[in-house]
Amino acid sequence: MNVIHISAECYPIAKVGGLADVVGSLPKYQENAGVKASVLMPFYNNRFTQKNEFKTIATAEVSLGEKTYAYQVLALKKNSLAVEVIFIDIPELLFKEYVYSEDDTERFTAFQIAALDWILSLKDKPSIIHCHDHHTGLIPFMLQECYKYKALNQIPTVLSIHNAQYQGWFSHEFIHYLPAFDISRNGLLDWNGAINPLAAGIKCAWRVTTVSESYMKELQKDANGLELLLSHEKDKCVGILNGIDTSVWNPETDDMLTKNYTSNNVQTGKTANKKWLCKEFGFSLSKPLFSFIGRLVYEKSADLLPEVIDSILTEKNCSILILGSGNKVLEQQLEALKSKHKSNYNKCIGYNEELSHRIYAGSDFLLMPSRIEPCGLNQLYAMQYGTIPIVHSTGGLKDTVTDVKHGGFGFRFDHVSVENCLKTIQRAITYYEEVPNLKNIRKTMMHIDHSWDASAKKYNDLYKSLKTN
Ligand code: ADP
Ligand code: GLC
Repeated sequence: MNVIHISAECYPIAKVGGLADVVGSLPKYQENAGVKASVLMPFYNNRFTQKNEFKTIATAEVSLGEKTYAYQVLALKKNSLAVEVIFIDIPELLFKEYVYSEDDTERFTAFQIAALDWILSLKDKPSIIHCHDHHTGLIPFMLQECYKYKALNQIPTVLSIHNAQYQGWFSHEFIHYLPAFDISRNGLLDWNGAINPLAAGIKCAWRVTTVSESYMKELQKDANGLELLLSHEKDKCVGILNGIDTSVWNPETDDMLTKNYTSNNVQTGKTANKKWLCKEFGFSLSKPLFSFIGRLVYEKSADLLPEVIDSILTEKNCSILILGSGNKVLEQQLEALKSKHKSNYNKCIGYNEELSHRIYAGSDFLLMPSRIEPCGLNQLYAMQYGTIPIVHSTGGLKDTVTDVKHGGFGFRFDHVSVENCLKTIQRAITYYEEVPNLKNIRKTMMHIDHSWDASAKKYNDLYKSLKTN
């Protein structure tokens, strides 16, 4: 059995968020569990593609209505990655420094058509096509409905929803972008009067997965307009919790850290990493350090951060570090706070992979007050590095973090508000003062298996159930 993952992101090639981490690591674990897995993704103009050499394995053209774009299918000349990755290079549309932009309808529709055309040309076709998020949501529809893909329509499709907030809507006036199909079937593309790639994927994929069980339940009630569809399709939906790549995220071997450590020397190891952070950002080593890493958007409750930071630092003796980018007004607010809290607050606006590893290792606590968190990987990385997560009880955060009050290893609160964030941080500070407990909790967390082992098997079993149907 062989699966092809089709995705807009894949670590370490192109990463905007957790989707890249998942697609860059799940296939490797699936292979270990006996299913051959590869990745098909766009060819962007970034550090990875500039630094590596590629060979052309096919050339063709893709049409979007009246416009035609030449493209190549590329593979790495020397693959140092753990899985096979194939690239669709449409220079005019995809070869940009960014992953997402305003013309994503054209970019990703062309990508999906080119991807299927290439699969159609293969002698050894994949046994499963696994799509990720709305950027690949039209694929299950096209396989099922477009005349030219008739030869592929027996291949089972799986659509993983990493985030239902983003659905890729576009107007019916662009329906001619898609290869010919029976137009009376266009209802399959529609949701609330627009073409909705995520909805189309949910309707047409053989199975739909969400990245945690709780998120799947939450989506039946609130899915940014798709809740009725998801309740209707619930029998083909299943929640499979994300795992992490423990060969990348391992404090014992992570070469981005200032000092490596294991659960046996967690205190000294974390202190060495905290020392580096404190020096870099001007904090005192003796105060508990709370960090936030992520996109500065409403979903992540980043809008609450300025008030939370200002209140907590006015009242309590701790330090706060922010790494992220997103909403520009928020970025400015976070910048402005710096002059008021010089010695115990700092921020790095932007994206910095190496710094993120150092923050997971050197912080005492990681803040994740997300309003919506389909799975969340940050809390898993934090726990893997012995850093205690402080989370809102939602989605994957609920499924992975148990509160210390219930014998767990984190701090949870139920409703997102500045007040609840503050109360929970205060609870954590009190806890921090009981040092022996903290050391034990860090050790316990580090022994939890967050790797993909269990979930990769669940995906493989899901595929097998589709092949025997
Ligand atoms: P999402 O995909 O919704 O952003 P996840 O928790 O699933 O959230 O994954 C976020 C990923 O992106 C993690 O690997 C996290 O470390 C990384 N990340 C987010 N923001 C930054 C940043 N500013 N710099 C470096 N890494 C970041
Ligand atoms: C999305 C979600 C995040 C999840 C990630 C990987 O970006 O917002 O919660 O962890 O995808 O599945």
